[in-house]
Amino acid sequence: MKKVRYGIIGIGKQGSFYASFFKDFPDFLKDSELTAVCDISSQREEWAKENLKGIPFYKDYHDLINSGKVDAVIIDTPHYFHPEIACFAFQKGLHVLSDKPSGVYLLQVKEMNEEAKKHPELLFGMIFNQRTDNLYIKAKELIEQGKLGKLTRAVWIITDWYRPKAYYAQGGWRGTWAGEGGGVLLNQCPHQLDLLTWFMGIPTKVYADLSTVGRKINVENDVTAMMEFPSQAKGVFITSTHDAPGTNRLEITGEKGRIIIEKGQLILTENEEAEPIFSEHNTEFWGKPKNTETIFTEEEIKPPFNKDILQHLRIIANFTEVLLDRKKKLIAPGEEGINGLTLSNAIHLSGWTKKEVRLPLDDQLFLAELKKRIEEEKTSSNK
Ligand SMILES: NC(=O)c1ccc[n+]([C@@H]2O[C@H](COP(=O)([O-])OP(=O)(O)OC[C@H]3O[C@@H](n4cnc5c(N)ncnc54)[C@H](O)[C@@H]3O)[C@@H](O)[C@H]2O)c1
Repeated sequence: MKKVRYGIIGIGKQGSFYASFFKDFPDFLKDSELTAVCDISSQREEWAKENLKGIPFYKDYHDLINSGKVDAVIIDTPHYFHPEIACFAFQKGLHVLSDKPSGVYLLQVKEMNEEAKKHPELLFGMIFNQRTDNLYIKAKELIEQGKLGKLTRAVWIITDWYRPKAYYAQGGWRGTWAGEGGGVLLNQCPHQLDLLTWFMGIPTKVYADLSTVGRKINVENDVTAMMEFPSQAKGVFITSTHDAPGTNRLEITGEKGRIIIEKGQLILTENEEAEPIFSEHNTEFWGKPKNTETIFTEEEIKPPFNKDILQHLRIIANFTEVLLDRKKKLIAPGEEGINGLTLSNAIHLSGWTKKEVRLPLDDQLFLAELKKRIEEEKTSSNK
């Protein structure tokens, strides 16, 4: 393969952003080209004809996939379609780079992963662009090096995904169970849920509260979840799309130290001794382990990524690089998309049933509960 020929399916907000990369960053994407696009909307067809002159447009993704014009597809439709389109692309011998989330419910994503497994020669990636954030890469490295010792807690407050009323009005699918299958958990937080499971593993149990605050939408835009990870570390995940100014703060604690990521820096605090060891021999009433602090900013962490290269561009460039040299490694393998979705589905199920959810998740029950909400929505007045 000389150049990787990409087709983008779903040329809305995000798909058109990726399409612009091929024009705006030719040096960075020199080993690839955009050779086809697809969307079901006539408006987007008009837009594509105007802005992507000479690039064939298809109204049906089957036609794009069967066209012989592409080696790989980038999937950027609403979430429900991601697994269906990926499966068809695999069956027709195309590589797949899917945007997040991997899908809406586990059953469809399990099917997609099964299909991917049948085609080991095809590359499967997810656009988890935040995995290219140098601070998160550093956090992962520090955890793997054992700098924090045995992990005891992860707390993520991610309430700066602010979305006003106008956002939900943009596409009829937004904010609905039928169109989107969830709210902040499925649209904005797949990034954090992926990273949380990347750092900590998939929880073994989850308890959550979901609500909808200040927007006429059917899905949740406010979530508080508690969880336990396989290491028995505890977790708290708080997110919303209505808080202003909002916060994005991740804190991961272990027996030997703590990482805080907030406002473009990572603060690593290392205890001189692991806390349980200290507590055993310390005799002072107010004794506490001594520690040292190191602050990393994104610019200081080298390699891997230059801050000026857009995260999504890094993912497409990495996918291309791995396609051309299979010894290289994908930043976000497609099969891993199920991890964050498992946590997302567990949070939803707990919030809906008001019960603790144990994993592995009862994915049939999840789907039945989701379908119930889709049915109720048909008679609701919100959207
Ligand atoms: N990685 C990120 O940072 C990021 C950011 C935003 C959105 N996304 C993801 O991208 C996806 C699209 O989001 P968006 O904001 O671009 O939405 P959008 O509504 O702007 O675009 C979606 C497009 O898909 C088209 N479409 C719908 N069904 C289709 C089908 N069956 N075949 C072909 N086209 C179809 C629609 O007509 C629309 O133009 C979502 O899954 C979202 O989660 C990812």
